[in-house]
Amino acid sequence: MNASRISALRHRTDAHAERAMVLAITSGKGGVGKTNVAANLSICLAGAFKRVLLMDADLGLGNLDVVMNLNSRYNLSHVLAGRKSIEEIIQLTSTGVEVICGGSGIEELANISPFQRQRLVDELDRLGHRADVIVIDTGAGIHTTVVGFCMASDHTLVVTTPEPTAMTDAYAMIKVLAGKHYTGRISLLVNMADSIGEGRKTYRQLAEVAARFLNTPVYDGGVLCRDELVSSAVRRREPVVLAYPRSLIADCFATISARLGNIRRTEPETTGFFQKVVNWLF
Ligand SMILES: Nc1ncnc2c1ncn2[C@@H]1O[C@H](COP(=O)(O)OP(=O)(O)OP(=O)(O)O)[C@@H](O)[C@H]1O
Ligand SMILES: [Mg+2]
Repeated sequence: MNASRISALRHRTDAHAERAMVLAITSGKGGVGKTNVAANLSICLAGAFKRVLLMDADLGLGNLDVVMNLNSRYNLSHVLAGRKSIEEIIQLTSTGVEVICGGSGIEELANISPFQRQRLVDELDRLGHRADVIVIDTGAGIHTTVVGFCMASDHTLVVTTPEPTAMTDAYAMIKVLAGKHYTGRISLLVNMADSIGEGRKTYRQLAEVAARFLNTPVYDGGVLCRDELVSSAVRRREPVVLAYPRSLIADCFATISARLGNIRRTEPETTGFFQKVVNWLF
C-alpha cells in the first residue's frame, strides 16, 4: 500500500464516530493458525480500505510480531509502567494495519488503582474510534482472559483444523461462550484442511452439534487448505497474502475477509470494547 493511501486512511476523521466492529480470533487448541489468520485477514481488510487495528492479546506466547515482521519491543505493560504512551506502542505497518501488542498488560490492569485503570481504558477505547475493525488475536484455550476478549467482541471467529482434538477443543470454546450467553456472532473457520470438501464437512459437523446440544448458531467462517506457502511465508517473516499475493491461499483469505468485512454490528454503540473486557474480567 502506498504512503498517500496509508496517510489518507490514518487521517480519516474521528467524526467517523461509529465504534469499530471487534472481531476476536480464537481457538480451543493451540497452533491451529490463529495468528496467521489474524495477520492475513487484517491485511486484506486494510486493502479493502478499512481502518484496521490489530491487537496481539496472546498474553503468554504472542508471536504476531514474528508473522508481521515487527520489532514490538513495547506493549501495554510499558504503558502501565508509565514508560510509554499508548500512541508510542502502536506500530503502523506498510500495509496500513496498525498493530498494538498487549503483552501481559491486560492482566496487570488488576494491579492498578480503579482510577488509573479507568483512565487507561478510556484511552484504549478512544483508539477504537480510529478504526473500522479491531482484530484481536486472543491466544488459545478457555482461560478467563481469552474468554473475556471474546465476550467483549461483536464477532468471534473460532479457528479449528479438521483434527478431532482441535474440533473437540473448538466445541469446548463455543460451549463456554454459549454458556455465558454471548450476544455476538460465532463463526467457525476451518484451517489446514486437506481439501475444501474436508473443511466443509468439518464445519457442518461442528455447526450441527452446536445447534443440537447448545442451541447456538455457528456461522460459516470459511475454509483454508493446508498450504506449504503459509509456512514458507512465515519463514520469510511475511504474511502469505503479501509474500504470495497471486496464490490460491491469498485468494481464499481475500474471500473470507470480504465476507467478514460486510458483517455489521447488530447492536448500537453502548460500551467501548476495552471497557467491556475490563468489566468482564474484574
Ligand atoms: N493453512 C496453513 N497451511 C500450512 N501451514 C499453516 C497454515 N496455517 C498455519 N500454518 C502453520 O501452522 C503453524 C501455527 O500457526 P499459527 O502460529 O498461526 O497458529 P496459532 O493458532 O496462532 O498458534 P498459538 O496457539 O501457538 O498462538 C505455523 O507454523 C504456520 O506456518
Ligand atoms: Mg498465535
